Amino acid sequence: MSLLIKNGHVVTATDSYVADIFCENGKIAAIGHDLAAPPAEEVVDATGQYIFPGFIDPHVHIYLPFMGTYAKDTYDTASRAALVGGTTTLIEMCCPSRDEDPVEGLDLWLGKAEGLSACDFSFHLAVTRFDETTEAKLRLIVDRGVASFKVFLAYKDFFGLQDTELFKTLALAKELGVIVTAHCENETLVTELQQQLLAEGKTGPEWHEPSRPVEVEAEGVHHLMAFAEATGAHVYVVHTSCEPAVRAAEAARARGVNVWIETVIPYLTLDASYAEQPDFEGAKYVMSPPIRDARHQPFLWNSLRSRSISTVATDHAPFDFIDQKEMGKDDFTQIPNGLPSIEDRVNLLYTYGVKRGKIDLHTFVDAASTQAAKLFGLFPRKGTIALGSDADLVVYDPTWRGEIAAATHHMATDYNPHEGWKLEGRPSLVTVRGKVQVRDGEFVGQMGHGEFLKRECTH
Ligand code: URP
Ligand code: ZN
Ligand code: ZN
Repeated sequence: MSLLIKNGHVVTATDSYVADIFCENGKIAAIGHDLAAPPAEEVVDATGQYIFPGFIDPHVHIYLPFMGTYAKDTYDTASRAALVGGTTTLIEMCCPSRDEDPVEGLDLWLGKAEGLSACDFSFHLAVTRFDETTEAKLRLIVDRGVASFKVFLAYKDFFGLQDTELFKTLALAKELGVIVTAHCENETLVTELQQQLLAEGKTGPEWHEPSRPVEVEAEGVHHLMAFAEATGAHVYVVHTSCEPAVRAAEAARARGVNVWIETVIPYLTLDASYAEQPDFEGAKYVMSPPIRDARHQPFLWNSLRSRSISTVATDHAPFDFIDQKEMGKDDFTQIPNGLPSIEDRVNLLYTYGVKRGKIDLHTFVDAASTQAAKLFGLFPRKGTIALGSDADLVVYDPTWRGEIAAATHHMATDYNPHEGWKLEGRPSLVTVRGKVQVRDGEFVGQMGHGEFLKRECTH
């Protein structure tokens, strides 16, 4: 299988130049001008278009039993949607419940993806219990190429870990060189505030944010930082939504804690007023931590520009409005938490970040691809355009104009939280290991082409 992409404007996290790229046997085999490569099976003219490394979404949920229901996507819908939007690698949160064996959990999650996914994939293993059997199981899981853990400091009695378990998980991670991703909110405060609001008759989706205010998130980050400092573990704070949470991580970083910060596309684009819409529309915007007051957005964009925030993921957690979000019609605490955005992350970040002058092209590529590859043991196989790297490429047309709509998206949900948002660019061609999977906004590839990526412990 060979492909020659000619005359594209190649942009990586560090470089920018016009070149031809020749792909053979799934790898980037040559980069240069007027390439005298062997005749390719396909030649694509990318004049006037960017060529980006395939984008990586390091925080998605596809198979997710959660809050009395299941997330709506399967790998069939989610991997197509990801690819159409330029994302060629997914790292899914594998979230067995407290009562589930983690090795069986990994097998279950793997079984949902293998042979079906159209893009490459890997997992963060959520440690939801730590008993006398856990250490041996986690060592086994790491040996199988799952080089990152996930901990929840929220979702009491469901995914949430107690402090002793948190300590043991971080200590083991430190020994193994495994990075620990963490959802940071103080679960006790959440429970108390939820009960208080419900007792006052405040049952609508607009009360979700006040039940988990920024202090709740900042306290969670601070809590994790103390444990990271005590154990020396490397940690990655997922879906950071607000200034106090970022500041708590930065303060720890200044003390020498090895911490990286993720934000997600809904926090950069949406604000708390969306959850205040009448007729229960606000339920479409219920996720945790909550979407914040708009004043946090300039801070998040600036932190991205300064690279204090390393990555922009999605936290894609898709639930239908009808029947699923509606489970919380009379009680906001019963609304399944999560938003779909796996398809739109890259285009939104490009249009509302790069085109609006908030970040440059290199920061865009770094935050949406390269940093995830580096942090999670995939670099330089993924996350860059270099000789020998996987030929995961996104030819991006900056002249395309369109808008987001649930009627045309590839995700399984019955709504899109960015309905009607204008886009100024989209992928015109997307390859996974040299195979063309998307052309002009449509999936044209092969389901099941995606591979499970074994990762090394790099921390
Ligand atoms: O609201 C969210 N974020 N739902 C998905 C689960 C999680 O906390 O990441
Ligand atoms: Zn979370
Ligand atoms: Zn998540």
